[in-house]
Amino acid sequence: MEVKVVLLTGGSSGIGAATAHLLASNGMKVYCGSRRGTIDQPQEGIVPLQLDVNDSAGTEALVKKIVEAEGRLDAVVCCAGNGIYGPVEGTLEQEVRDQFETTYFGAFKSIQACLPVFRKQGFGRIITVTSVMAVLQLPFQAFYASAKAALLSLSQSLSMELRGTGIQCCSILPGDVATGFTAARRLTKAGADENSPYKERMEKNLKKIEHDELHGMEATVIAGSILKQLKKKNMDVRVVPRFDYKMISLLVRILPVKFVLFMLSSLYN
Ligand SMILES: NC(=O)c1ccc[n+]([C@@H]2O[C@H](COP(=O)([O-])OP(=O)(O)OC[C@H]3O[C@@H](n4cnc5c(N)ncnc54)[C@H](OP(=O)(O)O)[C@@H]3O)[C@@H](O)[C@H]2O)c1
Repeated sequence: MEVKVVLLTGGSSGIGAATAHLLASNGMKVYCGSRRGTIDQPQEGIVPLQLDVNDSAGTEALVKKIVEAEGRLDAVVCCAGNGIYGPVEGTLEQEVRDQFETTYFGAFKSIQACLPVFRKQGFGRIITVTSVMAVLQLPFQAFYASAKAALLSLSQSLSMELRGTGIQCCSILPGDVATGFTAARRLTKAGADENSPYKERMEKNLKKIEHDELHGMEATVIAGSILKQLKKKNMDVRVVPRFDYKMISLLVRILPVKFVLFMLSSLYN
């Protein structure tokens, strides 16, 4: 079966918007959800919709609406996400919960809403946009990295659960990408504390992170990886776009953790 109808979350900007444009240019119909419910440039084949991934009932209603309109739903691409920044010490529990709410639970709920449809069809593709930070942690982003690692684990466990159903999972792990993500990043209360004992290191670190992101890949690179997976007969389970990030994530897997963390903290502190 070919992927023709896609539900994409987080489509109002960045990677989601670039993906919606590329998929639509390749003949797919993309239901493109976000809280804003807009897309940067209207395009035939893209249906912008208002969707908060934290709203399970709204997500389920949207899936039903798509199936009623199209008679099918072939894939879900979970891009919706954001990041918080600050030290573990002093981060409020609610701030951690909010990070997980959109980045992990939002994707989980989107996937869960689509699974019964995919199962009935005997076909479905699930793509989660996680991050290299799911496998490579950085200081002051512990909760973003944790949420992405949790989502990567979900994707990999699910891919085994779904064996033999015709439904496949793939997680895309982007490195730095120039998108609205940088401006949308929120400092936690402890991250914004002028008297924080981590203040100097946090500021230096954040400058580097923001510089790397703003000079990072074009969102179209990630969109290309997503399209490639959706067109494959057998999707890969985990994809790190671009050669340099692929190599870094490979080294992280084979080198001793202590050495990797030492190298990273020398670069980022
Ligand atoms: N940029 C990077 O360097 C980078 C690297 C690795 C991974 N990623 C991941 O890539 C994904 C896309 O991020 P991006 O870089 O394209 O950033 P972005 O430009 O800020 O896009 C984030 C998208 O998520 C949507 N969103 C946020 N909360 C939502 C919610 N509750 N319900 C529905 N949509 C929601 C936003 O739309 P609304 O505000 O309209 O809801 C927006 O469309 C994220 O999961 C991010 O963690 C980014």
